[in-house]
Amino acid sequence: MSNQIDQLTTNQAGHLEIGGCDTLDLAKEYGTPLVVYDVKSIRDQIHHFQKVFEDNDVDYAVSYASKAFACIAMFQLINQEHGHIDVVSGGELYTAIQAGFPMDHVSFHGNNKSREELEMAVDHQIGVIMLDNFHEIDLLKQVLEERNSHINVMLRVTPGVSAHTHEYDQTGQVDSKFGFDLKSGQARQALDQVLADPRMTMLGIHAHIGSQIFEVKGFEMAATTLVDTLGDWHEEIGYTAKVVNVGGGFGIRYTQADDPIAPEMFVDAIVKAIKKRTHELGLPMPAVWIEPGRSIAGPAGYNLYTVGSRKDVPGIRSYVTVDGGMGDNIRPALYQAKYEAVLAKNPKAPIKETVRVAGKYCESGDILIQKQDLPATQPGDVLAMLATGAYGYAMASNYNRNPRPAVVFVENGHSQVAIKRESFEDLVHLDEPFNLSD
Ligand SMILES: Cc1ncc(COP(=O)(O)O)c(C=O)c1O
Repeated sequence: MSNQIDQLTTNQAGHLEIGGCDTLDLAKEYGTPLVVYDVKSIRDQIHHFQKVFEDNDVDYAVSYASKAFACIAMFQLINQEHGHIDVVSGGELYTAIQAGFPMDHVSFHGNNKSREELEMAVDHQIGVIMLDNFHEIDLLKQVLEERNSHINVMLRVTPGVSAHTHEYDQTGQVDSKFGFDLKSGQARQALDQVLADPRMTMLGIHAHIGSQIFEVKGFEMAATTLVDTLGDWHEEIGYTAKVVNVGGGFGIRYTQADDPIAPEMFVDAIVKAIKKRTHELGLPMPAVWIEPGRSIAGPAGYNLYTVGSRKDVPGIRSYVTVDGGMGDNIRPALYQAKYEAVLAKNPKAPIKETVRVAGKYCESGDILIQKQDLPATQPGDVLAMLATGAYGYAMASNYNRNPRPAVVFVENGHSQVAIKRESFEDLVHLDEPFNLSD
């Protein structure tokens, strides 16, 4: 049995419990497939990040990367914990506005923000726009002039370090669709353009080196490169940054094969690397911002599914099919992401067999878990897939015209709907009847 499963909480009946709620009761009350978020886990991870900064005596922002999972309740929870958010679309920004999220705690990312999105950001006076390319600088200039307005900006750069789980690479990131290249001088050119515009206040520099990263080294190298860049800019034109934003990407455990350090340990290493380099270069210590998405939302999420059909292929394998799949979690089909699942009525029951957990969508690739050890299962049993909170519901679709599941938040034995289950009516509400004559 993996550590992950070992650490699950069960109640007196032996059922899997999340946030003090019995998962079988949740499945009964709200139906399946169901996405459940453990609110305490979200709060705790934000606190762990905040504590690292406070222990290191550094100004900071923990800016939740809302692309991992966004809804009004999530934004309100993040705000309750004094988190900031980063958004990457007008839709995420609109959700934050509807949530009453403080606009000065919002950063706006993206490599092709539209004029309308920039107007929305300026009109709501969000905290900072992360400038990504020269076209965007021009567009923002126009928007600010038209509105006689002003906004804080940062430059997203490619520090030449990219990371993929256990590897980092010192050249790979130069060939990226995001941000200004450092080596060719593009970033410096962008800096000059921004500083020349009195309507933009240049807060600092940003880099995001990858996702689901397990190695600290790549983060330390990127952070040091960012400070070196600021050192150059300080020397060349006297520019002093207020903020260094190192993005997100801290790896989490999905299965027993993953054994990452705690997400906040990455941040501790990053903060120490920035402190060391600024000290060496005689620069003032900037505030350090981070943008964790997966590490906040991922471990907090569980997908509950009901088991339906079963297919035993003699001598090959057995398929256990559930009532969800790639429409509520496309990650396994899209990039072979791995998960573990347990039998909610008894997660610690003795293992009887290894099965393939299949989804209900009409794609052979709709397999949620390739190989899962499970006790004997029956139709009607509930399976809980673990650590599904990041980039699961956020990437959900209506493929096969299946409604997207409900999302429920749980804490201290209480539950609430955060996103309602879609109905069949919802599926057709934007459809128009055919009315072209033949
Ligand atoms: C700019 C930026 N910040 C933060 C994140 C969040 O990364 P993660 O969810 O791995 O923490 C991403 C993810 O793609 C990103 O592009």
